[in-house]
Amino acid sequence: IQLVCFGVRDVEVEFFNSLNKYNFDLTLIEELMNDENVEQCKGADAVMIRGNCKADRSNLTKLAGYGIRYILTRTVGYNHIDLEAAAELELKVARVPAYSPNAISELALNLGINLLRNIPYTTVKTHQKDFTVDAMMFSKEIRKSTIGILGTGKIGLTTAKLFKGLGARVVAYDIYESEAARGIVEYLPLEEVLAISDVVSAHVPHFKGVNDHFINEAFINKMKDGAVLINTSRGEIQDHSAILHAIKENKLSGYGTDVFEGEKDFFFRKLTGEKLDDPVIEELISLYPRVLVTPHIGSYTDEALTNMVEISYDNLHAYLMYGRCENEVPLPEI
Ligand code: COI
Repeated sequence: IQLVCFGVRDVEVEFFNSLNKYNFDLTLIEELMNDENVEQCKGADAVMIRGNCKADRSNLTKLAGYGIRYILTRTVGYNHIDLEAAAELELKVARVPAYSPNAISELALNLGINLLRNIPYTTVKTHQKDFTVDAMMFSKEIRKSTIGILGTGKIGLTTAKLFKGLGARVVAYDIYESEAARGIVEYLPLEEVLAISDVVSAHVPHFKGVNDHFINEAFINKMKDGAVLINTSRGEIQDHSAILHAIKENKLSGYGTDVFEGEKDFFFRKLTGEKLDDPVIEELISLYPRVLVTPHIGSYTDEALTNMVEISYDNLHAYLMYGRCENEVPLPEI
């Protein structure tokens, strides 16, 4: 069985090879899948992709034309795949519903507590051998803080537990309240979560046409003055201009993000000294140390990587052996 895997970085190669217990015939490609390299899938049986791979109608049509039947995304999110096209082309799509919620939650925690304690600001100064102490370094303790979790799926819940472990009050909003979360978080209406939280951390999938730019000006206006906003989920749920404005006006004291809408165009590339095409993102990034940006590394940990690859291999094996897979992404009716 020939399996082409895209977006495999150097450090990941060893994982792909050592976890290959089904002896798939692997082609590991470092680039994300795009309009050109999709041709390297000719003759393959299945394709493994990750976020930011271009799995649009045109590329899925090419894959189906090569005889490929299985698209395995080693991600939780699947908004990078045109599911309607996949359904029409009779492709099966499977994902990894949980590879290690802690990987993403720990990143959200790191961004949040660094901004709460003004660590980036302080260390920029000491890096310049300015050892004075100023008002910007004064901070509230975590156990006196309220953390607002948006979205209480596995990742949101894990983030809630981490903050709770540090003694914070953790409140949450979700359109689906979960029993598992109820013992950990206090569910409140969105307005209340925003009004009382010192840190708001988003753990929300993106559904096109449903929650685009959910974090917009009206949303931010409902937040506490000087709060911190964290997003380790999807860039499409946030309005960059509104966040930029809020940082510049000091409505938000800090913003930490692992994601941007349109990140495909610049994440994973070295663009030092160049201007980004998007002037709003360009300006946001320039606002370090109040704005902390990581290039979608939420899942970039040893545990997450192992599980992403292992579960994706299991997904393909299940399709081949049993014709079905418990991690199948439901496709729309056509
Ligand atoms: C996800 O699993 O949904 C991610 O965001 C991971 C990333 C490699 C795209």
